[in-house]
Amino acid sequence: MDDARELSRRTALALGGTGAIGGALVLAGCAASDDGSAASTADGSDDDSAAPTNGAADATGEDVAALADIPVGGSIDATIGGEPVLLAQPTAGEVVAYSAICTHQGCVVAAAGSKFECPCHGSVFDAATGDVEVGPALEPLGSVAVTVDGDRVVAG
Ligand code: FES
Repeated sequence: MDDARELSRRTALALGGTGAIGGALVLAGCAASDDGSAASTADGSDDDSAAPTNGAADATGEDVAALADIPVGGSIDATIGGEPVLLAQPTAGEVVAYSAICTHQGCVVAAAGSKFECPCHGSVFDAATGDVEVGPALEPLGSVAVTVDGDRVVAG
């Protein structure tokens, strides 16, 4: 009887321990994924364009890219103030920049020539205007201020 009781207690402890560890792992997984998607998703709707723009505002004067690195009629990925942005040069010497945070659910949109493409759900944006060409995103990418200074593109 004692052996059986001891075994039961050990089994219960072992199961409890496993459950606690499993629960901790699950919580840790949720927390990690919540941190990533919650921040992105929460910001994805309204605040997304504001967050990178604020980062960009803090980074005024930051060297962003060489003008020559942005194809005329094309685009590149970059960062301003640590935030992902997209740079495009619709016409020679004219550079526009947009937050790379998708207005759908906050994924990072990638430069793709004259378009910006979101890898998560397939939204496509016009690189010259940031406007949505293909949903599910409904809102354009947030504009970010940049200036051409000689052969460089700077924030602000
Ligand atoms: Fe970009 Fe859904 S997050 S299309």
